[in-house]
Amino acid sequence: DSGRFTYDPGFTSTASCESKLTYIDGEEGILLHRGYSIEQLSEDSSFMEVAYLMLRGELPTPDEYEEFTRTITLHTMVHEQLKTLYNGFRRDAHPMAIMCGVVGALSAFYHDSTDINDPEQRKIASHRMIAKMPTIAAMAYKYAIGQPFLYPDNSLSYTGNFLRMTFGVPAEPYEVNPVVERALDRIFILHADHEQNASTSTVRLAGSSGANPFACIAAGIACLWGPAHGGANEAALNMLTEIGHPSRIPEYIARAKDKDDPFRLMGFGHRVYKNYDPRATVMRKTVREVLSSLGVTNPVFDVALQLEEMALNDDYFIEKKLFPNVDFYSGIILSAIGFPTSMFTALFALARTVGWVAQWNEMIEDPAQRIGRPRQLYTGPTQRDYIPLDKR
Ligand code: SDX
Repeated sequence: DSGRFTYDPGFTSTASCESKLTYIDGEEGILLHRGYSIEQLSEDSSFMEVAYLMLRGELPTPDEYEEFTRTITLHTMVHEQLKTLYNGFRRDAHPMAIMCGVVGALSAFYHDSTDINDPEQRKIASHRMIAKMPTIAAMAYKYAIGQPFLYPDNSLSYTGNFLRMTFGVPAEPYEVNPVVERALDRIFILHADHEQNASTSTVRLAGSSGANPFACIAAGIACLWGPAHGGANEAALNMLTEIGHPSRIPEYIARAKDKDDPFRLMGFGHRVYKNYDPRATVMRKTVREVLSSLGVTNPVFDVALQLEEMALNDDYFIEKKLFPNVDFYSGIILSAIGFPTSMFTALFALARTVGWVAQWNEMIEDPAQRIGRPRQLYTGPTQRDYIPLDKR
């Protein structure tokens, strides 16, 4: 009715919430953000435009876009005190461990100005979170390699600013490569939001108690880190690199099919998509563009293409409806751009912050919203009497 998408009754009974943000049809491989297809958005839009769309519900006019991006840039710096937090980590700390800690710590800096019942303060907290994630992620990388942090340069685009903070050094001017900037911006769009995935559900559940939004985003980062979820992009490239050559693919496909072997093809399969993940299609096209534009070849890409080819023609994967997902190809591009695998999930978290923040706002603004309280099917012992220790 009224153009709403209706789910089959079975699905409705298990739906955790209603949302206007993102629609997925897992059988048809459809992904829409506020009604716009991921194919069109990733081709024609920018990550900041998608951020506006997710937060405000409509694509911005040129003036609205200008004002929004200007507002975001005003929040790109982090409190100087936050820098000392990084020194508390070991240099070899995983960037996601740092992101969990530092983003959670933001609630200590802004807790007194985040009355979540005040729409204006919610808006500022949302802009702060989206604006600071690139700075925090770049600082995690710089800390890991022992290089000085770079302050944001707000004359650059959101993604260009992130590239410079990550790969620039104080001693040299940094030139943003437009091909890399466009590819990374597209990767951010592909990761922006994805309905009620595990980390978004975590953010919503944490937020439903009225917790500080920065702490809620830190909870989402923790959940995303898992190899079954956002951590799969790092695991997928490690797997492809370990396979190393197309001749070794059959051995890994056999392991993935072996019930007694816990090994799974990383970057394959999905809780919802039982057809091709539309983001993987865009990602595979982008790999070709980036590699040819950078003039680099990557044998891992050949392994990925042949692995996909073999798996999609294998009865096991056909029967289980296992296709490449968003994480299968992303690592190849990120690696070609120069990111270490340890940064891949941090980039996913950077992009997904737009979706987490939009979903958090949608939940808080819902007058019918109550604290989340999933129930269970109890399978433990029936009631019984206590036996004192000396009688046992
Ligand atoms: C993301 O939810 C989202 O939207 C997540 C995400 C987002 O944008 O937020 O899309 C991002 O998390 C993508 C998924 C990234 N994870 C991986 O690539 C890790 C590898 N994939 C799997 O671990 C797995 O496919 C999951 C976790 C993604 C889904 O697990 P399920 O729910 O068990 O998958 P399923 O029910 O479709 O599995 C059907 C069968 C099972 O075997 P049976 O129990 O029927 O015998 O297929 C098997 C699974 O064991 N299977 C795999 C497999 N994935 C599922 N076998 C081999 N290799 C795989 N990758």
